[in-house]
Amino acid sequence: MQHPSQSDTTRLVRRPFVGGNWKMNTDCARAAELADDVANGGSRHAPTVDVAIFPPFPYLHATVHAVGHRAILVGGQDLSAHAQGAYTGQTSGAMLVDLGCRTVLIGHSERRHGLGELDGLLNAKLTRAIENGLIPVLCVGESRAQRREGRACEVLREQVQGCLSGISAEQARALVVAYEPVWAIGTGDAATVQDVIQAHRSIREVLADLYSAPFAQSIRVIYGGSVNANNAAELFACEEVDGGLIGGASLKSDDFLAIVNALCS
Ligand code: PGA
Repeated sequence: MQHPSQSDTTRLVRRPFVGGNWKMNTDCARAAELADDVANGGSRHAPTVDVAIFPPFPYLHATVHAVGHRAILVGGQDLSAHAQGAYTGQTSGAMLVDLGCRTVLIGHSERRHGLGELDGLLNAKLTRAIENGLIPVLCVGESRAQRREGRACEVLREQVQGCLSGISAEQARALVVAYEPVWAIGTGDAATVQDVIQAHRSIREVLADLYSAPFAQSIRVIYGGSVNANNAAELFACEEVDGGLIGGASLKSDDFLAIVNALCS
C-alpha cells in the first residue's frame, strides 16, 4: 500500500471545492436570495476555486436563474440511478443538466442512513452523473460506532471501492470525494484535524490502489461535518483537505462566504 506524499505542487494542481448543502431548507424566495448573495460574494474566487450550492430540487430553477452568468456551480442533492422512464418522484442526471446544474451530491449520509442507500445503488448514481458530465461529489464516512470499533478506514475503503466499481480512471477524473463522518454532521462536533488527515490519506490510498498514485493525487478530497466560520481555516490549512461540504453554515451567506474566504486565504 502506498502513502503518497504530497507537495505544494500537487495541492496547487487540485482546484479547491467548497459546497453548500442546503438540505430541505429555504423557500423559493429565500433560495433565490441566498443564491444571489453567494454569487455576489463568491464569484470573485471563481478563477481559483469551485464554489457550489446544492439547493432543494424545487428551487433549482430559481437558484440557477438567480446565479445567472456568475461562476457559481449549482447542483442537485441527489439524482436517479436510472437514465429515464417510469420512476415516480425521481430526477435524472439529464434533467439536472437541463436545468443548468453542473454538479451533484451522491451518497450523502442522510440518504445512506436515512433512506437505506447502499454502495451498489450509489455506484449506479455515480455512473449516471458521469454520463451526464456532472461533477460527482461522492460522500463517504463512518458512523460513531464504526470509529469506536477502530473500523473508520476499513469503512471508507469499502464505500469508495463499492461506489467506484467498474468506473475507469478516465470516467472518474472529475470526481470529488467528501469525507463526512456521520457523527460530525449537524452535531457541532467536527472531526479533529488529525482524524481528517488520516481519513483523507486513507481515501487517497484506496484511490491509488484502485487506479494509480498520480490519479489519487489528482482527485479532490474535501471534508464535511460541522464546518463553520471558526474552524474552517484550521481544517483547510491541511494539504490533504481540498475544501469542504457545508450544511448548516451554508444557510447564512455571511457564514458560508467566510468559509469560502478561509479556503482562499
Ligand atoms: P453540517 O452538514 O455542516 O451541518 O454538519 C454537513 C453536510 O451534511 O454535508
